[in-house]
Order: sequence, then C-alpha cells, then structure tokens
Amino acid sequence: MEQILAKLTYQAFQYSKSYLGLNHKTLTSRVRELVAPPKDGNVQSVSAATMLQYRDRFERLLDQDWTDAEKGIYPTSLLFDTPWGDIAQYYPQLLLDLPQIWDRSNNRRFNEFSQEVKTEGYPQYYVRNFHYQTDGYLSDQSANLYDLQVEILFNGCADPMRRRILAPLKAGLESMAFATDQPRILDVACGTGRTLRMLRSTFPDSSLYGVDLSPSYLRKANQLLSELPGELPQLLQANAEELPYTDDYFHGITCVFLFHELPAPVRQKIINECYRTIQPGGTFIICDSVQSSDSPEMKPMMENFQAILHEPFYNNYVEDSIDDRLQTAGFEVVDIQIHLASKYWIARKPA
Ligand SMILES: C[S@@+](CC[C@H](N)C(=O)[O-])C[C@H]1O[C@@H](n2cnc3c(N)ncnc32)[C@H](O)[C@@H]1O
Repeated sequence: MEQILAKLTYQAFQYSKSYLGLNHKTLTSRVRELVAPPKDGNVQSVSAATMLQYRDRFERLLDQDWTDAEKGIYPTSLLFDTPWGDIAQYYPQLLLDLPQIWDRSNNRRFNEFSQEVKTEGYPQYYVRNFHYQTDGYLSDQSANLYDLQVEILFNGCADPMRRRILAPLKAGLESMAFATDQPRILDVACGTGRTLRMLRSTFPDSSLYGVDLSPSYLRKANQLLSELPGELPQLLQANAEELPYTDDYFHGITCVFLFHELPAPVRQKIINECYRTIQPGGTFIICDSVQSSDSPEMKPMMENFQAILHEPFYNNYVEDSIDDRLQTAGFEVVDIQIHLASKYWIARKPA
C-alpha cells in the first residue's frame, strides 16, 4: 500500500512539473506574440499522432524511473530531488530575462556577452549564446537559470532522462573484473552538477570527478553538491578535448547533453579522451538528443529545436553516427537506448 501511494505521489509530482513547463511555454509564447513576434517563419507543426507517441514515451519514462528506484538501483528520494529554493529564487529572473532572449533570437545575435564576461581562451564553437541564453555558459546568472530552463524545455523530464544512465552504469561497474565499492567516476561537461548529484546518491562511496569549461557552472555545481553528505566531487575547469587525467584512471565516465553542442571533429576528440582515461573494462555512457535514424517521427521537433534555439551543430549531430565514433576510438558499443527525447550509448573499453 505504501509503495502504491509513493508511486502515485511520484506520478502526480512528474505530471505537475510537466503541466507547469507546458503552461509556462504556452503563456510566454503568447506574450512573445504580442511584444516580440518570432521572426523564424519555418517552425513546423507537430502532428497529433506524434504528440501521442511522445506522451507514450513520457509514461514509459516515468515507469522505468519508478521501477529502477523500487529495485534499489537508486534511492526513491532521488525521484523528488528538486532545487525548490533555486526555482523560487530564480523564476522571476528567468521571466525578466525573456525579452532579451527574444530580441537576440529575432535579430540572430548569438555572440553577445555582458562586458564583465571574459571570453578569451575558450574554443570558438563554445563562445556563443546557445539557446540565445544571456551570456551563453559564461556568467553566474546563466548558471543560476540553467537548471530551470532545461526543466522547462523538457517539461520536467530532464532529471528522469538523466537518471537513465544510472542502471547501465551500475551494471557496468558491477561486471568489471576488479569490481570495487569505491569506483572513480567522471562526469564530462558536468554543468551545474545535476548528474553528479545523482551519481553521489547512487554510488555513495564513489570518488566523483567533474569537468566543465564554465567557471560559473562549476561554482554553481560546487554550491549544489556541497549540500550533500559524503565526499565532495573534485571539480576542474578543463576542456574535455584534453582531459587532465592519466590513462586508464576511471571505472566509469558519463556525459550528458554535451554532444549536440559540439562540431563533429570535437565529438570524436572527446570520445578519444574518454577512451584514453577509462580503465579496460570500464563503462562510458553518453546521453544526448534522439537522432533522425531512431526517431524519424520526431524530425519536426528536432528541426524546431535548431530553428528556435541557437544550436548550430544540432543538425549535424542528429545525422552523426556516434556508434562509429565510439568504435573508432576503440570502445565496444554494448547497448543503445531511447528514452523520451534522449538517446543513450552504453560503451565499454575492452578488458
Ligand atoms: C547543455 S550543457 C549540459 C550540462 C550538464 N551535463 C547537464 O546535464 O545539464 C553543456 C555543458 O557543456 C559544457 N561544455 C561545452 N563544451 C565543453 C568542452 N569542450 N569541455 C568541457 N565542457 C564543455 C558547457 O559549459 C555546459 O556546462
């Protein structure tokens, strides 16, 4: 009985987040129509049949998320881990920032940074306003708004999608010849640390590491991760094209929502670096957007994503064979999964 109630609570929680996200998008697009009508004429409508398929994927995602928690792969408390304080504090700022985003989007300005933001020393592909967001990834304000923006984008499903990496990672670590209770796990492009929070709850005794190019996002990650009990993850500002670790160091490496924001050769370089730094037998998991080959029915959504948000590498990403890239680096692709709007490559470095 207790389990049934807990499951219903979880479903109600997720449905509420979903409605909040949808309502936010509906209301703000109505306001935008009035004050700054979008100039991108090529937004495609999504058919009712596709919306039904998407809803079906949504329900399956919730079922899988609940089932994994029930099986003990991660604690049930993780299902409700939501930064309510940040949401209350930063939602007004997110609303106030919208007119600037609309103006940037209507005028295709994607290289605009506040005066105090330092843009030197970063790769060219990175110094831009992805999603037309203010200051790209390079200010504290951007870091404060990011989690909220992503939750709204995915109608409250960003975290359930991130959690899909946990079961295959756990299985991969347990199957290693020298399985350990203290695995070293790296999250590449850790952003504000949402995935590291999940890894900490799932692997309480692990040593966690995170790299990201953005000092502001790392500062935010440090703040959110220091709320948790246990060893603090070691965070480093670094370009994932040159990971600052020795060969064969990690038991597991994860990378969430990075690859669609990279030029193709950089995707390969980062996969090669993950191969170099993971131990033989170690598990590497990439989570990113679905692609044309696995979700052709979602093509209009994919085209809208790159048309509405500034995502210059997305069109190339959705056609890219990440499987081939993993194999080129030396990985074995163990499994490929699709959950809602995300795709997962589970790869292993041969032992
Ligand atoms: C879409 S966000 C994803 C963040 C996080 N993984 C998540 O799940 O929300 C992309 C992140 O990749 C980082 N990034 C982009 N290019 C990078 C690179 N070459 N090396 C390290 N981090 C990078 C950005 O600073 C940003 O935090």
